[in-house]
Amino acid sequence: MVLVRITRRAHFSAAHRLCRPDWSEERNTKVFGDCSNPNWHGHNYELVVTVEGAIDPETGFVMNLKQLKDILEDRVVSDIDHRNLNTDVPWLAQVNPTTENLAVAVWARISDSLPSGANLVSVIVNETPRNSVEYRGPQENGRP
Ligand code: NI
Repeated sequence: MVLVRITRRAHFSAAHRLCRPDWSEERNTKVFGDCSNPNWHGHNYELVVTVEGAIDPETGFVMNLKQLKDILEDRVVSDIDHRNLNTDVPWLAQVNPTTENLAVAVWARISDSLPSGANLVSVIVNETPRNSVEYRGPQENGRP
């Protein structure tokens, strides 16, 4: 079978603060640096989502990229663009909004929304042009 990967990019801007409420301000500042500023700060994030599947002989597509665009918009971007990731997003409420946790949460938001035969293989979140995180999904040995 010929498997092909397709990628869609999306952008969003959001505020956050990295901190653990059970830690002192000093410890949060020491570990999280500028990202622990108590009065928030923002990033212009880029989301890079890659899906793999066989080419549909009828359409020539793995899946329609317009559909992938719409899934990203409906399931992710509309919830987080111009929001505060700590306070405004129910599906991030239980985590410290690091780029790592964001990538895992985005995976969970979109993996079940894809059409059959189109498998999510990678979610990359670029927090800045220099800082990236990639999540490739749950591991086969059962690790989350
Ligand atoms: Ni930050």
